[in-house]
Amino acid sequence: MVDVAYVICALNDIPSQRARGFDLAILDDAGKPKNFPIVVVRWGKKVFGYINSCPHQGGRLDWERDQFLDPTGQRLMCGKHGALFELGAGRCSSGPCKNEHLRPVQLQVIDGDICVTGVTLVEDEDGTDESRGDG
Ligand code: FES
Repeated sequence: MVDVAYVICALNDIPSQRARGFDLAILDDAGKPKNFPIVVVRWGKKVFGYINSCPHQGGRLDWERDQFLDPTGQRLMCGKHGALFELGAGRCSSGPCKNEHLRPVQLQVIDGDICVTGVTLVEDEDGTDESRGDG
């Protein structure tokens, strides 16, 4: 199977040391669309992606749209009960789900665009999303 990379935004759409949420949809194993909310953190030229779901109670991490980071900007924070997660590993370093992990999402930066790989994305009907074959 060809690994397809789906562009979700330009790298420069997310300032360094900031996070942004995307409410995507993927096709599950049965070919049915399923919500796929993710958070993308940019750190310089690196990007980290996680499913936007707290391991504690499964809710979204952002308490307000695109508010994902703690006041220091060094960790992801769940708005519900304040669990803090390491940016690069997704491990909860403090809070009610200590040592549990956010579920990672495979991301790649290709030609200045942040792309999701490893899943089959349901693309917007207006065709604004681009997808690329790998290679
Ligand atoms: S749901 Fe995230 S800390 Fe409780």
